[in-house]
Amino acid sequence: MGPPRSLRSLPPEGARPALGRPGGRPFADVATACRTPAVKSRLPQVGTTIFTVMSALAQQHGAVNLGQGFPDFDCDPTLIDAVDAAMRSGLNQYPPMTGIALLRERIAAKIESLYGHRYDAAGEITVTAGATQAILTAILALVHPGDEVIVLDPCYDSYDPNIVLAGATPVHVPLTPGTFAPDFERLAGAITPRTRGIVINSPHNPSGRVWTPAEMQQLAELLRPTEIVVVSDEVYEHMVYAGDHQSVARHPELAARSVLVSSFGKTYSVTGWKIGYAAAPAALSAEFRKVHQFNVFTVNTPMQHGIAAFMADPSHHLELAAFYRAKRDLFRAGLARTRLRALPCDGTYFQCVDYSAVSDLAEADFCRWLTTEIGVAAIPLSAFYVDGFEQRIARFCFAKKSETLSLALDRLASL
Ligand SMILES: Cc1ncc(COP(=O)(O)O)c(C=O)c1O
Repeated sequence: MGPPRSLRSLPPEGARPALGRPGGRPFADVATACRTPAVKSRLPQVGTTIFTVMSALAQQHGAVNLGQGFPDFDCDPTLIDAVDAAMRSGLNQYPPMTGIALLRERIAAKIESLYGHRYDAAGEITVTAGATQAILTAILALVHPGDEVIVLDPCYDSYDPNIVLAGATPVHVPLTPGTFAPDFERLAGAITPRTRGIVINSPHNPSGRVWTPAEMQQLAELLRPTEIVVVSDEVYEHMVYAGDHQSVARHPELAARSVLVSSFGKTYSVTGWKIGYAAAPAALSAEFRKVHQFNVFTVNTPMQHGIAAFMADPSHHLELAAFYRAKRDLFRAGLARTRLRALPCDGTYFQCVDYSAVSDLAEADFCRWLTTEIGVAAIPLSAFYVDGFEQRIARFCFAKKSETLSLALDRLASL
């Protein structure tokens, strides 16, 4: 038997042209030869985000950056100690794909104690590389090309591209202008036989609004006759200042069709650690894990051990609302001395303001002006709408030290 057909067709070694010289001729121009192939973008609409643009502008102009949503203070040192202890005791190799058992157990216990629903730590909870990865993973796992997924504008900027990456169509339904309440008539009108998912987010970035129990009930009733899956982005679950957080885990009917997503980065003031989790019924979790396994496979070991140890004391998440309520109140009291009108803020660490008494500029122009001329960076609300809807509203982040907030307020007082 001779060599396989594909090898047989090759000329003998010495007779082959030298590498890089097809046909034996030298390249006329090496620069032309070193050509990156043309790329067809999977996300042609996506450019640099407004958060990056405003942060760069803030740095350039020495502005107080109340734009991007992250704390300017450090986390609890005992959390660092717990991670340090894990690293030093040799917990530095791959953990189980779904996350270490103790952390999944503690997440399950926390959800049960707060919202009354027991997820099975073994089969229904997965530790993720932040909420962002959990949301993408949920959509890739549960949505198919040709499906539709409803998102409620204004919304966090990853939802739409996540749906596009799944080959599905994002269907944008606006929240009610002025109140940011879900508009169930419009929602009902947006549901078609192709609707496979809906992404909800309470407490809501950017508006700071918190869904009510009646709204969760209305959502459950709307979805009852459908096969729609809910991706519930609850990253601000521990920052609620009026009423209670309405997790899907409080609502058995919604819990049965939902992937609940949360973020330790938000809760423990370590946004750079990129660690969170997804909780979902076993059938949804099984599909979620198939994608998770071949995406990140798993999440870094020492942070998981450190967070699991830190979670043993529930005051770390239970006291967060009081901590941020004080910041919210300080910031709102300062805003009351300006011509900016503070909108209600019942949750999250974002405060929206109506600036129509100050300027007629469009939102992005106003935020640029505020950054360069007044020295405080904010985010235009229009950036959270697919159609750039304008309401003369800007969003500030108050997850900042008191001195940072005071400096920003001094500058805003000149408006
Ligand atoms: C609504 C919302 N979801 C998800 C995230 C991302 O969370 P993580 O940093 O855990 O990926 C953010 C971050 O700003 C957010 O505001």
